[in-house]
Amino acid sequence: STARAFSPASVGNIGIGFDLLGHALSGAGDSVEVRVVDAPGVRIESIEGSDRPLPKAAEENTAGAALLSMLAALGSEQGLTLRIEKGIPFGSGMGGSAASAVAAVVAANALLAEPLQVEALYHHALEGESVASGSRHGDNVAPMLLGGVAMAVGERAPLKLDVPPLLYCAHVHPHCAIETRHARAALAGHYELGEFIAQSGHLALVLTGLARADRALIAAGLDDVLIEPRRARLIPGFAEVKQAALDAGALGASISGAGPSVFAWCWGENDARRAADAMRSAFAGAGLESDLLVGPV
Ligand code: HSE
Repeated sequence: STARAFSPASVGNIGIGFDLLGHALSGAGDSVEVRVVDAPGVRIESIEGSDRPLPKAAEENTAGAALLSMLAALGSEQGLTLRIEKGIPFGSGMGGSAASAVAAVVAANALLAEPLQVEALYHHALEGESVASGSRHGDNVAPMLLGGVAMAVGERAPLKLDVPPLLYCAHVHPHCAIETRHARAALAGHYELGEFIAQSGHLALVLTGLARADRALIAAGLDDVLIEPRRARLIPGFAEVKQAALDAGALGASISGAGPSVFAWCWGENDARRAADAMRSAFAGAGLESDLLVGPV
């Protein structure tokens, strides 16, 4: 038997919620087809749509490693063959490595006589994702599994948050790649207590704003003072792109995941379209072509 699943891309993290907070992004994603076979072991038959060679050894591939984790937990020797279709560009800041892991576990789960709960799928997808990123953080896996905005804290079950219906995301992916490992290396060094307090306050404002559907609180909080300043230089034109979004009326804007994509949160679809166009023009000014996604958060 065979099953196929799709995982959306994501913004993970959302600036102020470093490694903690992400949201699903409609319009891009990865698909994985899982087939039950006689020969034991997890085998990757094909990887299509990737602009980079990705590892085909199961234990080095995020989808393969996620299924190895799932089979080990089930005590199963079942043979599985995977076909992976990448729709998320490599090193884009859209959660590509997590999406393949999520699609793989969701497809495999559909083949189980007794499907696992979402918490177990989260654990196995995280095992898979960590082979690519080198650390465990569920800010992409959580929203991909739950939809909308989700919060991932340590090994706890991920939490889905309420989102005001008018909250829209304008997402712009410039045609260049940043490896998450490099973007994380830029964060080494000293952090002031005051920076940490400001960032915690901003995260608290955004979480409260989401819960109360209060756009002013969201706008006040959506300002990453800790991570963004240390990574901005990795993204050509970042300051201009962010300013273009704010000038177009966005509530706030920051780096999508580890970059180089940039996202802006806006109130209503019209503002989001205006912000996305302005951000795209700003990237063009920095010599980069880009792709847009606009949709509800
Ligand atoms: N939160 C990660 C980072 C991205 O910004 O480094 C991948 O989860």
